[in-house]
Amino acid sequence: MGSGTTLVEAKLLNRNAIGVDINLQSVSISETNLQFQCETKSKICMRKANAADLDFIKDSSIDFICTHPPYADIIKYSQDIEGDISLLTYEDFLKEMIPVAQESYRVLKKGKRCAVMIGDMRKRGKVVPLGFRVMDRFLQAGFAIEEIIIKKQHHCRSTKYWEKQNNNFLLLEHEYIFVFQK
Ligand SMILES: C[S@@+](CC[C@H](N)C(=O)[O-])C[C@H]1O[C@@H](n2cnc3c(N)ncnc32)[C@H](O)[C@@H]1O
Repeated sequence: MGSGTTLVEAKLLNRNAIGVDINLQSVSISETNLQFQCETKSKICMRKANAADLDFIKDSSIDFICTHPPYADIIKYSQDIEGDISLLTYEDFLKEMIPVAQESYRVLKKGKRCAVMIGDMRKRGKVVPLGFRVMDRFLQAGFAIEEIIIKKQHHCRSTKYWEKQNNNFLLLEHEYIFVFQK
């Protein structure tokens, strides 16, 4: 859920939505961001929960999943919240994405889609292919990949920082949106 961007769009599109985040602060920021008036019939529910355990959602009951996990520990979203995968190092993060992908598969209706936004990282000069490794976790959970969308990003707040750090390396100027189908 983060700050509730996806839920804002769901409300504007007249869709019912369930937003999930492990961090209670995210729930409260999203509640604030959803307090705008517009003509809509959508019902939005926000919940503090772990994406690896969606036991409050029935099997095969969801029409679309839109998820944007942390990029391992590049940005830590909390100091010590249990289950916060932004506190995990690369390999542990990838392990925890297995139940996240399995739960996504379980709750989605057959034939429906799950979109995952994620980017790569660079550590000590080498590219760490976080995106494709996360994609692999969703394939292992049973999904088929329908689209790999490249989202370009320019002029980010951190671009100047990375230009200085990178010496002769190319900047990572894209993220992925993987569209899976159950
Ligand atoms: C990249 S941010 C999402 C940003 C969001 N797309 C937005 O527009 O604000 C990742 C979010 O994942 C949450 N998170 C971390 N571990 C989680 C888990 N196990 N289950 C659910 N949410 C988790 C973090 O608290 C953070 O809000």
